[in-house]
Amino acid sequence: MASPPPSRPIIAVILLAGGSGERAALGVPKQATLLMGKPVLAWSLEAFVQIDAVGVIVVVGDDATQQLVADHPKLHRTSPGPTRRASVAAGLDRLAALSDDSWVLVHDSARPGVTPVVVGRLVDSLNSGAIAAIPVLPVADTLVRIDGARSGDAIGRSLLARVQTPQAFRLGALRAAHAAWAGAEPTDDAQMVRAAGHDVALVVGDAALHKLTWAEDKAVIAALMNAGNEQMGDRRTATGQGYDVHRLVAGKPLWLGGVEIAHSHGLSGHSDADVALHALTDAILGALADGDIGEHFPPSDAAWRGAASHRFVRFAAERVAARRGQIEHVDVTIIAEAPKVGPHRDAMRAAIAEMLGVELVQVSVKATTTEGLGFVGRREGIAAMASATLSLPR
Ligand code: CTP
Ligand code: MG
Repeated sequence: MASPPPSRPIIAVILLAGGSGERAALGVPKQATLLMGKPVLAWSLEAFVQIDAVGVIVVVGDDATQQLVADHPKLHRTSPGPTRRASVAAGLDRLAALSDDSWVLVHDSARPGVTPVVVGRLVDSLNSGAIAAIPVLPVADTLVRIDGARSGDAIGRSLLARVQTPQAFRLGALRAAHAAWAGAEPTDDAQMVRAAGHDVALVVGDAALHKLTWAEDKAVIAALMNAGNEQMGDRRTATGQGYDVHRLVAGKPLWLGGVEIAHSHGLSGHSDADVALHALTDAILGALADGDIGEHFPPSDAAWRGAASHRFVRFAAERVAARRGQIEHVDVTIIAEAPKVGPHRDAMRAAIAEMLGVELVQVSVKATTTEGLGFVGRREGIAAMASATLSLPR
């Protein structure tokens, strides 16, 4: 099979986002959960979009995945199947117009840490004649068979490797392997192409391609992806602060720190008036030196009437991600005579952590009264202060 000349390799990507993430149990499928301010799916998608040789990307996912990613001319979507294999097959169907000579990368969106470097290694391997190429990493731990609760014999780890995605194939070979497969549900495509009689070449994988399988993998992946960023350049720490006040009025729902609290009064304002989230949004924008909430969401704009304030926080988090920054820590102080914040503190921290795509330990919520003094003391309003610490590329 002739290799496409290097100047014209139209590479297709099948980006899998059809799973339900049962083992991670995050409340949303893994592709939708926020990682460092961006949906997990968006990380690998944006990495592929930026690779010039990638001409078409088929996201295999349900309607909801459409909301997770920005529109792009390279982008197509198709519905998933009941298994990973069936989802890849759905992606292949969507690529029916491409010739067998095209190249295809199959990737799990649950591995957000795609870089052009690993894609380059795969493409080089196909360019030098391979039918299929996969990224692998060595096994560091000693491996043993298990014998009930006891250890059995050790397995020579030098003979083993950990297999990642993206996996690269000549499209014709992947199509034929899928058509011929009669085995049990496979966990990747390379084993199908091997079963069809082809050699699968190995390239060096990347620790940052760690798969999000269990909830605790999120923190591991963030750390591994950041470690890669550190190597790409110097970073600096930036701090921002935010302050906001809203008036209390009788008979309105009270939203505070992303949580609805049963109370006689609620805050008045154009959006849901969540004073804590507004201060937090301003703190993040402040650390970015990127204006303030009023500039990005003018109160004069009817679009924000009654808007849930987590949209403002998510917007700020996306601005951080767009700058290749990370949110290191946020600290919010609510200044109110009533209601008591203590019983809601952990729910607020959890809500804010989810909005920002950070861990609970990176979010602090505190509260104070003003000893009956001033407008807060007279229960006319609630104030909030926030600070945000970011790490940004220099
Ligand atoms: N996948 C898919 N279609 C399916 C099943 C899985 O596109 N029917 C995708 C997942 O979205 C994921 C990749 O295949 O990106 C690897 O699968 P896995 O890690 O098993 O993800 P989930 O199936 O979502 O997780 P779980 O098995 O824990 O439910
Ligand atoms: Mg699965």
